Amino acid sequence: MPNNSPNPTAWAKPLQIGTLTLHSRVFQSPLSGVTDLVFRRLVRRYAPQAMLYTEMVSATEIHHLRTLPQVMEIDPQENPISIQLFDCRPDFMAAAAQKAVAQGAQSVDINMGCPVNKITKKGGGSSLLRQPDVAEAIVKTVVAAVDVPVTVKTRLGWDDQEINIVEFAQRLQDAGAQMLTLHGRTRAQGYNGRARWQWIAKVKQALSIPVIANGDIFSVEAAIACLEQTGADGVMCSRGSLGYPYLVGEIEHFFKTGEKRRAPTVAEKLTCAQEHLQMLWEYKGQRGLFQARKHLAWYCKDFPGAAQLREQLFQINSVQEGKDLLDQAISTGKLCL
Ligand SMILES: Cc1cc2nc3c(=O)[nH]c(=O)nc-3n(C[C@H](O)[C@H](O)[C@H](O)COP(=O)(O)O)c2cc1C
Repeated sequence: MPNNSPNPTAWAKPLQIGTLTLHSRVFQSPLSGVTDLVFRRLVRRYAPQAMLYTEMVSATEIHHLRTLPQVMEIDPQENPISIQLFDCRPDFMAAAAQKAVAQGAQSVDINMGCPVNKITKKGGGSSLLRQPDVAEAIVKTVVAAVDVPVTVKTRLGWDDQEINIVEFAQRLQDAGAQMLTLHGRTRAQGYNGRARWQWIAKVKQALSIPVIANGDIFSVEAAIACLEQTGADGVMCSRGSLGYPYLVGEIEHFFKTGEKRRAPTVAEKLTCAQEHLQMLWEYKGQRGLFQARKHLAWYCKDFPGAAQLREQLFQINSVQEGKDLLDQAISTGKLCL
């Protein structure tokens, strides 16, 4: 265990992000196509204090639209919440950040990690790791434009030949970033291979602002191991929350009490899936129904007949159809594993 290992009681302590005091060291990451208002409502139910993020939104899109995109809609009851922006134009980013604050965001997060070609080709996301001058200018301009903390989420580097995160992170800190979330993979890795937490430890040692560890946090045990190995100030969950909005709450509960919360039964998870479906339908209509298919499939794992149910749920054309399939599965009684 490295010398910078945190004392477990420290995990229950508040975390200061500039002027913002967070009462939880667990974060639900921004996930495009996933962390909408509905999903966040479910995460918040089980994790009363964790920081939540919107899906990333383009500052250029905000600049051109007359009304704000739906992904920027937040509910005051969600606090603490951050709106995540991406782009390569500092002026657009500053204007978008001001709109995010007007929406009620308690911090503005800048995406410098997205590996998707469509985004990197236009100079956004992880391509900023190769444009540190631009990255620095974005942070400085956004910091000057808003009075909430400005944070950055990024990766280790472009690829294994260009791991530049330590110098890059220092420049962001000097430019005024108040917190850094580090996904322990390179852009080239995408979501493959193990997250390299050892790099997060190096960055934590090099910075004075809080560093949040991200990558492969799929359980309470992984969260503990990650904090022990990195000395990071908190952990951010991502894919572990897909079909499992309980994860952030489970970790938050453990950090605060030292006790493990009872895991939901399969029937409870499927009931939650039904609720998720209904809420998406009410919030987004037909588009919500189509988006719900993947969520419902994610809820179905680790019980007899899960694969078949997943396939059926992936093809639903109405809320009733989805609810009936889930009802049937719940009532078969096979689920009490
Ligand atoms: C479907 C999906 C959507 C994502 N969308 C975003 C996003 O909008 N903004 C962002 O910073 N990261 C996004 N990410 C990256 C995750 O937040 C996270 O950094 C990554 O999944 C690593 O964590 P994990 O190994 O625990 O999944 C996305 C990842 C996935 C799988």
